[in-house]
Amino acid sequence: MIHAVDIKNLSKIINNTVILDDISLSIEKGSIAGIIGRSGAGKTTLLRCLSGLEAASSGTIHLLGQDIASKNKKNTVPIQQKIGVIFQQFNLLSRRTVFENVAFPLEIRGFSQTLIQERVTHILDLVGLTGKECAYPRELSGGQCQRVAIARALVVDTEVLLCDEFTSALDPETTLDILELLKNINKHLGVTVILITHDMTVVKEICDTVFVLEKGQCVEKGSMSTLLLHPIHETTQSLIGSLFKRELPHSYEERLVHEPLEGSQIIVRLLFSNSAAKEPIIASLVEKFHLPINIISGHLDHVREAVFGQLLMSFPYTQTIFDDVQSYLNHYHVKTECVGYIRD
Ligand SMILES: Nc1ncnc2c1ncn2[C@@H]1O[C@H](COP(=O)(O)OP(=O)(O)OP(=O)(O)O)[C@@H](O)[C@H]1O
Ligand SMILES: [Mg+2]
Repeated sequence: MIHAVDIKNLSKIINNTVILDDISLSIEKGSIAGIIGRSGAGKTTLLRCLSGLEAASSGTIHLLGQDIASKNKKNTVPIQQKIGVIFQQFNLLSRRTVFENVAFPLEIRGFSQTLIQERVTHILDLVGLTGKECAYPRELSGGQCQRVAIARALVVDTEVLLCDEFTSALDPETTLDILELLKNINKHLGVTVILITHDMTVVKEICDTVFVLEKGQCVEKGSMSTLLLHPIHETTQSLIGSLFKRELPHSYEERLVHEPLEGSQIIVRLLFSNSAAKEPIIASLVEKFHLPINIISGHLDHVREAVFGQLLMSFPYTQTIFDDVQSYLNHYHVKTECVGYIRD
């Protein structure tokens, strides 16, 4: 099978510093993949290698079956034309209208006016910008600017769309709109979408597969659901943890201390997924330990086929009881953590 992207043992060394360290990964044609990692992990550098802006120090990159890391540049030109890139800053031409911005890549390639008119009109309709043809970038919202950038990236026969932190400048609601648009484009045009981001909420919405980068290495890869339910690497666990952790209500936060006091209540956070979400765990906890449990807040998140739950609760503290509760819940694969203590 020909992959959209096939990277083998890719390394990038700049000024004797290893920026990308022996990365191997493949991305299926027609899928939506996420490349996620903390700031400085090497995401943008990887994208620059993929888009041909940066040469690899070693290893191979195949895009749509063609070797782009090879020295023979003649081969790489047609394949680069099948790649569209969008960035956080939109990079629109301020003196050109929406229509002219989108038409730009076609003009460069010498398309006829009739064909340009036809293609640009069609793509503007697809991204929901019909009626805005004559507007200038300064007259558009951030979300609309990003739609123009997407249209411009897709107007040529794009097969792979690379997106680098492209929702960072948008508010959460606009981000969701744009992600929905990408999902549609992926579905209707069959374009492979590669999202590079540090934001797990973006990835969780639309990605089929996810690759986690840390210090230039790909430390974990898998389907979105597998990673959500069974993250193995510490970086993945912390990125996913940040998705589902909710804050303690303010009235509790005010009274919170970090050492147990005489007669204090311990506040415990329970984190659980799929199977455990279906068990009557709290009922059996009360029954088994005769604990007067006070539930502070609870929440269930549904992401694809996965269910994630979080429960904040308190009960009278003794170290023995907490240890017993913890090992009991462990048995059900429920993670427990002590948030702190409050005086009863
Ligand atoms: N041209 C360069 N010369 C020297 N170091 C570089 C160069 N480009 C990138 N780096 C270094 O490589 C590392 C990875 O940078 P990169 O921009 O790829 O990270 P990133 O994952 O995109 O981070 P962010 O989430 O902040 O955008 C950083 O430590 C950066 O300082
Ligand atoms: Mg970056």
